[in-house]
Amino acid sequence: MRVVVLPTPAEVGEAAAAEIAAVVAERPDAVLGLATGDSPLGAYTALARRVERGELDLSRASGFALDEYVGLDPADPRSYRTVIDRTVTAPLRMRPAAVRVPDGAAADLAAAAEEYERAIEESGVDIQVLGIGANGHIGFNEPGSAFATHTRVVELSERTRRDNARFFPALADVPTHAVTQGLGTILRARRIVLVALGERKAEAVRAAVEGPLSVECPASVLQTHPDTVLVLDEAAAARLDRAGLQSRDLASAAQA
Ligand code: GLP
Repeated sequence: MRVVVLPTPAEVGEAAAAEIAAVVAERPDAVLGLATGDSPLGAYTALARRVERGELDLSRASGFALDEYVGLDPADPRSYRTVIDRTVTAPLRMRPAAVRVPDGAAADLAAAAEEYERAIEESGVDIQVLGIGANGHIGFNEPGSAFATHTRVVELSERTRRDNARFFPALADVPTHAVTQGLGTILRARRIVLVALGERKAEAVRAAVEGPLSVECPASVLQTHPDTVLVLDEAAAARLDRAGLQSRDLASAAQA
C-alpha cells in the first residue's frame, strides 16, 4: 500500500487522475472501477480537462460503478446511475453503454447482483477508484462485511445514512439498502486508487493504513492488495503516525 499525501484537494485530484490516465495510456480499452461521492470528483474533473485538451481518450474504455441505492428509479437525481452519468460518462466522453451501474431497481435484486458480479469477473477491472466512508466503508461494504464478499444487497448503517442524508430531503428518505460490489470483488482489480479528503476521514484512513486487518474497518482489507495507492490531503492524513513524510511513499519508507 502506497500512501501519497498532498497539500490540497486540487493536487489530490490531479495525482489520482494521473494514476488513471497512466493506466489508460497503456491500455486504451481499460476497464475502470468507478466510485461516486465527493472524494473522486476532483480526479474526474482533472481527467475531463485532459479529455477536453485532447490528451486523453476514454472512448474505448469502459466502467463499472461500485454501488447503487436500492429502490431509487435510475432517473432519480440521487441515484448513482444519474451521478455517474453526470460526473463520469458525459464529461469523460465515455460510451454510455460501456458504463455500467448495479441495478438497484431490479425485480430480482439478488439475480441482478450476481449477473453484475459475473460481468466484472469476465472483463476484469484495470484500475478501481475508491472513496472511503467515515466509518471505513468502501463501496457500501459497511463494518462487519466479510473480506471475501461479492456484489450483493446490503443494509446501510445508520452513520452512512446520516452522512448521505445531505442529498435527500430528510433522513427518512435515504434508502435503507444498497447493491454494492463486495470487498472480494474490489480486491480483484489490478490497481486501486483510493482518495480521501478532510479531517472527517482521518480516523478511517488511520485504521485502514495502520490498524489491524479487521472487518471493523472494511478499507483495511486493502493492505492485502498488491497495488493500492491512497492519495490523501493533509487533513485526511493527519492521524497517520508517519504523516510527517509528506508526499513520500510510506511503504518504501517503512521498508528502509
Ligand atoms: C458513499 C459511497 C462510497 C463513498 C463514500 C464516501 O457512501 N457509497 O462509495 O466512497 O460514500 O463519500 P464521500 O466521498 O462523498 O465522502
